Amino acid sequence: MRREPESTQAFTKIYSALRCSYRWHRGRLSRIVFGQALVRNAVVPNPSSKPEILIRDLESIADLQLALDLEKLTWEADDRDVTPLAFAIAARAAGAMWIGAFDKAQLVGFAFAIPSLEHGRTAFHSHMLGVRPSHRGMSIGYRLKLAQRQKALAIGIKEITWTFDPLRARNAHLNFCRLGVISNDYRVDFYGAHTSSPLHRNGTDRLWVTWHLADQRIESRLRGKDVRLENLDSLAHLEPLISFNGDGRPAMSDLLQALARQRIAIEIPGDMGRIETENEDLAREWRLVTRSAFTESLRAGFVVKEFVRSVRGQQGPGAYLLEKAES
Ligand SMILES: CC(C)(COP(=O)(O)OP(=O)(O)OC[C@H]1O[C@@H](n2cnc3c(N)ncnc32)[C@H](O)[C@@H]1OP(=O)(O)O)[C@@H](O)C(=O)NCCC(=O)NCCS
Repeated sequence: MRREPESTQAFTKIYSALRCSYRWHRGRLSRIVFGQALVRNAVVPNPSSKPEILIRDLESIADLQLALDLEKLTWEADDRDVTPLAFAIAARAAGAMWIGAFDKAQLVGFAFAIPSLEHGRTAFHSHMLGVRPSHRGMSIGYRLKLAQRQKALAIGIKEITWTFDPLRARNAHLNFCRLGVISNDYRVDFYGAHTSSPLHRNGTDRLWVTWHLADQRIESRLRGKDVRLENLDSLAHLEPLISFNGDGRPAMSDLLQALARQRIAIEIPGDMGRIETENEDLAREWRLVTRSAFTESLRAGFVVKEFVRSVRGQQGPGAYLLEKAES
């Protein structure tokens, strides 16, 4: 059993209290903007020197072209891997959601979701969320997801799915911790083994996540409920199935023992992008070992419920928490 040192626990408590207060303020801001059905022309007043961001539908062909330009900038992909403008226009006309975030005239973020029919249910599948590098970490990605949710709920749709690379701690934090998605589906090389995007240099394995828009759990998460302490406590009582070794390499513990428990923890590095750039072999090792851990756990009936970042200090790894699904 691994316990965090007392100093870390104390730090975590103080940090959590500060975050609660910050979240409360931020939650109020979000409600002011999104709680009044103001997806269109909603100006988000930002404290300090942060720019004011306007969240609105992308309606014209010129708007859509801006989004595709930002897609190219975000994924740095060849033209053949960028969404064709004609498809963007057709998808929009057929009910897809194109939502943009503007800093004055500049498009700084966008979210694109197509109507979907999964397991016989009408839903949305969010295919892309991108934020300009200069504007990351300002909650623009979060606000775009809230706008998607509000638009979906307004037409009676209660579910949005999307995929993301489970080795990206930033996306994991945004998706699980802040938005409250869950996942019981891992797709190996979802977009193929290679694409022209450097973000896909380590393959394209994806967790397929579901956001149950109207669930109580989501409501309370969006109101700012902080579950970090609770999750850290659960992690403290678990030997991770995959742990981040002192040398930065993954170590796998006994799979059968892990599958016999009610909960499983899978750790990932805090900055996989850096590892992918600096050490391709190590990045591949992480991919293969986490692929095996996720596929085996999900096959055995576990569901990915949470992600906790920096579980051992600011530069430390993050950890997914999986729970055995109720049968
Ligand atoms: C993923 C992406 C859309 C997020 O946009 P964003 O506007 O920066 O997101 P937000 O600011 O709303 O949220 C990011 C959160 O991750 C946190 N974060 C940043 N780096 C992190 C890391 N290495 N580990 C954990 N969390 C991290 C931020 O602190 C923030 O959380 P907080 O506000 O609770 O502190 C943006 O990074 C992006 O465009 N990435 C490339 C494309 C991509 O991966 N798209 C998603 C899949 S389609």
